[in-house]
Amino acid sequence: MDKKRLDFRLWHWLHAFVVLGLMGTILLRKTFLSWRTNSELIIQNLSDINIVVTAGQAKDLAKAIRAPMWEWHIILGYALTALVIWRIALFFTENGSKKYKNFSGESLHKKLVIFSYIGIYAIILFMTISGQVLNFKSELGLDKGLAGDIKDIHEFVFFYGVLVFVPLHILGVIYAEVTSESGLVSNMINGKTNNKLR
Ligand code: HEM
Ligand code: HEM
Repeated sequence: MDKKRLDFRLWHWLHAFVVLGLMGTILLRKTFLSWRTNSELIIQNLSDINIVVTAGQAKDLAKAIRAPMWEWHIILGYALTALVIWRIALFFTENGSKKYKNFSGESLHKKLVIFSYIGIYAIILFMTISGQVLNFKSELGLDKGLAGDIKDIHEFVFFYGVLVFVPLHILGVIYAEVTSESGLVSNMINGKTNNKLR
């Protein structure tokens, strides 16, 4: 096992934090801060105190409650964009690309792990580009139909890409840690491969 370099470890944990954060904003948008659920709550609770609001007004209120949370999707989105650029730069250093260049002699399992990382990188790159296109849709002059299609694909790749790969990666790392590669996670934290417990 190669020692993980400090810049690479820093990159990994910042990236993990940002991606999990972005997933958290989606969780909130789809549950506690869903405008559909909350606009019904608003209509119901206001009608209990004899205030009548239209469905449209309730929707605007529910979206206003959601807005400060959703700003974090954009803030973390910029952070992810910076991290992607950083990772591309790291790719040009020896440590950042070695395992993606010479893996023909590796075991089938190692090859699958490497392909899964290539998959994660492709998905993250796609989410970053499509997310920024959505973020700048008015500046780019996108019409409503095209912006809607891009949003649907951005969302689809979240459900069938990010939401599949991230849990698989975490479970895979835990499995490796408790079986043949104990010390893998500490290496990603402290950059040492010598585990005193072994
Ligand atoms: C929070 C729990 C996580 C743990 C314990 C963890 C742990 C690890 C470890 C130990 C490695 C090195 C594996 C190896 O050398 O084969 C690794 C690599 C990697 N992790 Fe994570 N990770 C976590 C979350 C994430 C998240 C949320 C992402 C976001 C997509 C992510 C993306 C990656 C990528 C892309 C690599 C490959 C880096 C490379 O070698 O190019 N990780 N992770
Ligand atoms: C791992 C990375 C990302 C994930 C998992 C993710 C996930 C999602 C999902 C699921 C939606 C649809 C929400 C809905 O309509 O219910 C969405 C919308 C959006 N995302 Fe992302 N996203 C990511 C990265 C980014 C980035 C880097 C940006 C750029 C700033 C971005 C900007 C946006 C924008 C502008 C929308 C449309 C919001 C709207 O129409 O109100 N996303 N994202």
